[in-house]
Amino acid sequence: MEQREHWGSHMGFIFAAAGSAVGLGNIWKFPYITGENGGGAFVIVYLLCILITGLPVMLAEFTIGRRSQRNPVGAFRAIKPKSKFIIGGYLGVLAGFVILSFYSVVGGWTLGYTIKAITTGFAGLGTVEKTSLVYKNFVGDPRNAIFYHMLFMFINIFIVYQGVKKGIEKWTKILMPMIFIILLVLIIKALSMEGAMDGVRFYLTPDFSKLTGNSILIALGHAFFSLSLGMGAMITYGSYLSKKENLFKSALSVSMIDTGIALFAGLAIFPAVFAMGFAPDSGPGLVFHILPAMFSKMTFGFFWGFLFFLLLAIAAITSGISLLEVVTSYFIDELKFSRRAATVIFGVAIFLLGIPSALSFGALADFKLWNLTFFQIADNLGSNYLLPLGGLLISIFVGWVWGTKHAVDEIRHGSHNFADVHLISLMAGLKDDPSHNSDVHVLTLASLWGIFLRFISPVAITIAFLFTIGAIKL
Ligand code: PFF
Repeated sequence: MEQREHWGSHMGFIFAAAGSAVGLGNIWKFPYITGENGGGAFVIVYLLCILITGLPVMLAEFTIGRRSQRNPVGAFRAIKPKSKFIIGGYLGVLAGFVILSFYSVVGGWTLGYTIKAITTGFAGLGTVEKTSLVYKNFVGDPRNAIFYHMLFMFINIFIVYQGVKKGIEKWTKILMPMIFIILLVLIIKALSMEGAMDGVRFYLTPDFSKLTGNSILIALGHAFFSLSLGMGAMITYGSYLSKKENLFKSALSVSMIDTGIALFAGLAIFPAVFAMGFAPDSGPGLVFHILPAMFSKMTFGFFWGFLFFLLLAIAAITSGISLLEVVTSYFIDELKFSRRAATVIFGVAIFLLGIPSALSFGALADFKLWNLTFFQIADNLGSNYLLPLGGLLISIFVGWVWGTKHAVDEIRHGSHNFADVHLISLMAGLKDDPSHNSDVHVLTLASLWGIFLRFISPVAITIAFLFTIGAIKL
């Protein structure tokens, strides 16, 4: 059997995994849900959600990925042959199709707006009424919507086609530093504007009265989406890891980068919005209505607008490729496709699946099922059903079926010299292993990771899921 391709370096892997996590969710969604749900108070809750469900599930995904050296379906099969949990792998591949099909539509808009910024500078569009109209016409025009969706998919296919090292790793190593630099420049610019502090206050001052039970569940659902969990993207990226890599540290680094970028994105947006005298808005309105109006009125607005939309587009691309890689790796490993054939065939298939979503804001706006447009159905099915279900299956699989003790054996590779191996072993309730010279007594410490993965994560995910589908209200 052909040797599986591996990441070329530790940083290459961290950039790729962080690239998957950092996406539209961080820059477009996180800032406004934070603004709406009590600012700093929401940030605290969000951090807790990352710690108690995000991090444990990410570690679980990396672990089954590296152990099996397979795509999500193959991973479940390799670890527990004949287990019914393999359905979790299939759901992951399906989620890759569904999520990328609508994610690419919005990714396409960001490409279109990057070009718009540089060519028109949003000139003469200084009011939200005007920019809303431009947005409506832009996303409603079938040629635009399909063209940019196609361009976005083309870029994703182009990168994934070249392989793990020469494609995904090479490109994320270029694109991720660009994200950091652009964001930094934008933050400095935003904070240096007069009146910027009002925006910082709006964004971060803790307001516990706005923090409801619903906010907590929103935080939980978003943590999952933002960390790219529940569909095997991290299983797939983990499957290209060698035994040298420290999985716990990697999961920690990726979670920290993702959360850091989300927090900083708000600091690039709200201070500028307030300084320019606009009111913050929620949802797509913030990015596609208010910001272009704001750039239109700023000196060198075309440049700032270009940088901002480029940032969004890059973040979307590094996430898009991880979604495509899940689908591609399944067809390569399980059905023996060549990488090139799998990437092109299924990339095009996802493009076609996304066309009705791309048209959901114009030609197919009135075409609804259960009162939802195609776009909303794809978004709902992917983000609200497939991810939580996948996350639930993954945590139960690792926590109960495979067992955290076996999982810790895998985590131990690459962690020998670090104190954290003791910590994780202890957390999983492993008997103290003399070969690891641990002087800490197992019985005195709770098996934390095991507890999180077996009990806390599944319960939290289930509650958040029931909330999102409207079965419970807090
Ligand atoms: N984490 C990405 C974001 O925050 O935009 C979205 C995403 C990418 C979700 C990859 C799931 C995934 F597998």
